[in-house]
Amino acid sequence: MTTGSKNAKNKRLTVPQFAARKGGEPLVCMTAYYTRMAELLDETCDLLLVGDSLGMVLYGMDSTLGVDLEMMIRHGAAVVRGSKTALVIIDMPFGSYEESPAQAFRNCARVMAETGAGGIKLEGGQRMQETIAFLVARGIPVMAHIGLTPQAVNTIGGFKTQGHGKAQRKAIIADAKAVAAAGAFATVVEGVPEPLGAELAKVAANVIIGIGASAGCDGQVIVTEDILGFFDRNARFVKKYAEAGHMIRKAAAEYASDVRARKFPGKEHTYAQRDEKSEG
Ligand code: KIV
Repeated sequence: MTTGSKNAKNKRLTVPQFAARKGGEPLVCMTAYYTRMAELLDETCDLLLVGDSLGMVLYGMDSTLGVDLEMMIRHGAAVVRGSKTALVIIDMPFGSYEESPAQAFRNCARVMAETGAGGIKLEGGQRMQETIAFLVARGIPVMAHIGLTPQAVNTIGGFKTQGHGKAQRKAIIADAKAVAAAGAFATVVEGVPEPLGAELAKVAANVIIGIGASAGCDGQVIVTEDILGFFDRNARFVKKYAEAGHMIRKAAAEYASDVRARKFPGKEHTYAQRDEKSEG
């Protein structure tokens, strides 16, 4: 079992190294969408996920369906630039991979080539098995995403937890096994009952990363802005570790008050006039 430091040589964690951590110390994964956040999270995280949740978190969309390939490539490259040791995985947006294995390969190859990321993530279980095998055979490391798959929000009928009845439970276990058999190095399991999340980590041959699942998973992923407290309302599975929303409102109000009272900029934030002689 590995402990503490994710990579003794301070090099970027590779997909095989990440995959080899199955059953060991839980893997730490967080979302990042831009360079500075990647710089801040890099030393702590094993994996930085450039999730298509950026559509909702950064762009105010009400689902991830409006996110496109250009957005993922821009943000993906920014996160790779900001990180040195974490494995960076980029979400494939809705419509960029479902049509055929060939379409998926064409778009995944673009993402890999234009960002320098270590791999991609796509949503779907058994239905994506052929595509995952096609991609892996051609050099694209794939992280799968099953359970509550946000790109299927319209067919699911909302962001609803999955895997409650016997049939759904069985289907999700079959999904986990199918994507692992196809070669996915890891699988994100989102929004399932705790016992099912723990069971998936036991029955799947690959790394199971939970979100709204179970502490029994091989690791956890979370939307960074959720745990930082950017939003007033959160899903049940979010634990707030900071109150960034409150901090930002407070800082903005103090700044506004200083500006209105002409207290900012103060002397220490302004430049003295230099005469021409001292400039020469
Ligand atoms: O888009 C995303 O951020 C995700 C994670 C929440 C797993 O898919």
